[in-house]
Amino acid sequence: MKRTADRYAVIGHPIAHSRSPWIHAQFAQQTRQDLLYSAIDVAPKDLPAAVRDFFAQGGCGLNLTVPHKQAALALMDALSEAARIAGAVNTIVREATGGLRGENTDGIGLVRDLSCNLGVDVTGRRVLLLGAGGAARGVLAPLLALAPSALVIANRTAERARELSQLFARFGPVQGAGYAQLEPECFELIVNATAAGLQHESPPLPVSTLRRAQVCYDLAYARGTTQFALWARECGVARCYTGEGMLVEQAAESFLLWRGVRPETAAVLAALRS
Ligand code: ATR
Repeated sequence: MKRTADRYAVIGHPIAHSRSPWIHAQFAQQTRQDLLYSAIDVAPKDLPAAVRDFFAQGGCGLNLTVPHKQAALALMDALSEAARIAGAVNTIVREATGGLRGENTDGIGLVRDLSCNLGVDVTGRRVLLLGAGGAARGVLAPLLALAPSALVIANRTAERARELSQLFARFGPVQGAGYAQLEPECFELIVNATAAGLQHESPPLPVSTLRRAQVCYDLAYARGTTQFALWARECGVARCYTGEGMLVEQAAESFLLWRGVRPETAAVLAALRS
């Protein structure tokens, strides 16, 4: 009897534009793994039932995206350290015992894109992280693990940035601030983790700060480019990147957790960009 393919999925709301099914199909083909990966639209109130039903019907693993990453924490039987520190789950692994383990591969995805794909050296550099929401929290510990000389979190609501910096102070030299306080400061790397792009806006970063950056990285991605990356380029920042690389790298880390093999990402990333 033919064995049916192992089933995986990404759950989000909305989810129609997710590139994850395509990315995982490329990984499966490349590594000769027999699996199916679909996208499921689930409203926030339906998340617990959707996760339970997916695994009850034999599903092997899930990815979670906006707006479910934080809510998924409460549904897990166990959490990886990365998920616990990030306060969010983007990958669910079904353990041999049947229990669900929450993982988070977003931070390692960003770090791999910066370090392995783009050759951006964070160690000893000054880093500015824009935003203090879930996306910022998810990448803070992995960025601090690269030992920047300073990491400043800037947020529209400055208090949120200060609270987040206190929460992560044990991981490295991190401070929180409002945008207005940044004026005289110089940062080699600026990472945009705000949701401003969703409203077709850019964060209220002083232009003088942006101009002095060597590298700008937007966690978001969009066909062509993002508003923030475009603005940075217009301001003369030499190296401006958007989040496709992080997307592919976090997917590869999830694939590794599920299948025990890490796919090659370069060709998949090139195809995604084209
Ligand atoms: P996510 O999970 O995407 O991080 P979130 O937790 O709602 O979403 O956080 C959104 C982040 O984007 C916050 O840092 C928010 O700033 P505030 O805390 O001041 O609200 C930031 N943000 C959203 N819209 C923005 C805008 N137009 N300009 C600057 N920052 C913005």
